[in-house]
Amino acid sequence: MRTTMRLRSSTLVWVVLLTISTFAQQHNGLVPSRTLLNQLSGSANYLTMEELWFQQTLDHFSPYDHRRFQQRYYEFFDYFRLPDGPIFLKICGESSCNGIANDYISVLAKKFGAAVVSLEHRYYGKSSPFNSLKTENLRYLSSKQALYDLAVFRQYYQKSLDLKLNRSNVENPWFVFGISYSGALSAWFRLKFPHLTCGSLASSAVVHAVYNFTEFDRQVNTILALFFPLIYASITFF
Ligand SMILES: *[C@@H]1O[C@H](CO)[C@@H](O)[C@H](O)[C@H]1NC(C)=O
Ligand SMILES: *[C@@H]1O[C@H](CO)[C@@H](O)[C@H](O)[C@H]1NC(C)=O
Repeated sequence: MRTTMRLRSSTLVWVVLLTISTFAQQHNGLVPSRTLLNQLSGSANYLTMEELWFQQTLDHFSPYDHRRFQQRYYEFFDYFRLPDGPIFLKICGESSCNGIANDYISVLAKKFGAAVVSLEHRYYGKSSPFNSLKTENLRYLSSKQALYDLAVFRQYYQKSLDLKLNRSNVENPWFVFGISYSGALSAWFRLKFPHLTCGSLASSAVVHAVYNFTEFDRQVNTILALFFPLIYASITFF
């Protein structure tokens, strides 16, 4: 009985600590408290949701195919240190990209005087080259094409910024960010185009492709099997 109680109280302490640290990470840490207050209203979670459009090349590897499609992007300039501040490129991955989220990158942007731009991944959200996603239309959906999308966009954006600032052949330092799949893109972008970035942050980047990755499901299964008894134990305690 004593052992059970001790076990239960240590579990409880552990769960409480975990909850506190999760809460602290989400609500203090790098994110300003203003964000917490604004979280009730949806658009406050974004620095911008204003859509901009870029004419992107459909096939970067064919000299004959000149088709283009409309790719959606966003820009945020409030923290930009004119004219030579860095440009943060937030890479969007395998989902709709609805704006530039107000997260830790905005804190970094403020600190470093950076502009933030974000490009939607081809075939997602509003950046689909085709109306129908039948198999033959999917042939231009690859990470390689997506990497060249980013490179072409980066060049276009730097040029248009130079035009706006009335100058030519000036390069701002570009830093790329990504999480999970877009984290992998972020790392690959830096490797493939070292002359186009000064650095890359690849958060939880999935850089190693595994065919028929059943171990992944097994791992998720194990985590659930570990966590449920703990949660159950703390519920029984209350
Ligand atoms: C850009 O440069 C040109 C030529 O030097 C000058 O006439 C023009 O006023 C400048 N525009 C801005 C917005 O600074
Ligand atoms: C994937 O792996 C599992 C387990 O090793 C196996 O049963 C299954 O046949 C594999 N599927 C394919 C498509 O290779």
